[in-house]
Amino acid sequence: LYADSEEASAAVAAEIAALIRTRAAENETCVLGLATGSSPTRVYEELVRLHREEGLSFQNVVSFNLDEYFPMAPDSLQSYVRFMREYLFDHVDIRPENVHVPDGTVPPEQVAAYCLDYEAQIRAEGGIDLQLLGIGRTGHIGFNEPGSGPASRTRLITLDHVTRTDAASDFYGEENVPRRALTMGVGTILEARKVVLLAWGEGKAAVVKRMVEGDVTDTVPATYLQRHPAVQVVLDEAAGAELTP
Ligand code: F6R
Repeated sequence: LYADSEEASAAVAAEIAALIRTRAAENETCVLGLATGSSPTRVYEELVRLHREEGLSFQNVVSFNLDEYFPMAPDSLQSYVRFMREYLFDHVDIRPENVHVPDGTVPPEQVAAYCLDYEAQIRAEGGIDLQLLGIGRTGHIGFNEPGSGPASRTRLITLDHVTRTDAASDFYGEENVPRRALTMGVGTILEARKVVLLAWGEGKAAVVKRMVEGDVTDTVPATYLQRHPAVQVVLDEAAGAELTP
């Protein structure tokens, strides 16, 4: 629990930087699972600063993003490819071939094979060392909406109405928000060696309480994180306000 999201984001970025450097010193890659949305933006800004000012290199980093709207062209304003370039990839020395964001242009009949391949690529890199997450008001992690079980894998899902409402301003109206998305599964996320979930602001307080203190249920997919041995929930005061002291 931090006083504000700025301080919290700097601490998370420092932790990620330490992991990248430790792996580099061992001549190993560092596999990061990355999220989009408003929660991680300051972490990315701080990582960019560490790259520019403190020589943090991303040469040994391999990244896998959690999700992407479907369908979605990579150069669209709302695409997560574009988001990641804008906040991180274009400002650091990560190798383009090491970056993976689910492809919102895959033809529907190839989606199943594409999702299997996304999982295979994660495994081929040795699995995810650290997975960064936000949480949606529906209790989603990635785009694993209510109903997503602990064995779910990378797949095409239907977005919850609440999620589409929350995305409406980015798309200039809810009617423009895609109805579907590609997302890593809850099972995929649970296999990461370490999980860091970020939540800021009073709008997240209720779902944070359910995630941390509620029963484990697919009604709130984030509750499955209670079963993960190495989860860090990083909150500002407002997001933690409803937790039992
Ligand atoms: C984004 C993602 C989502 C968001 C969540 C919170 O890649 O997987 O689960 O993390 O919807 O979004 P923000 O951070 O915008 O409140």
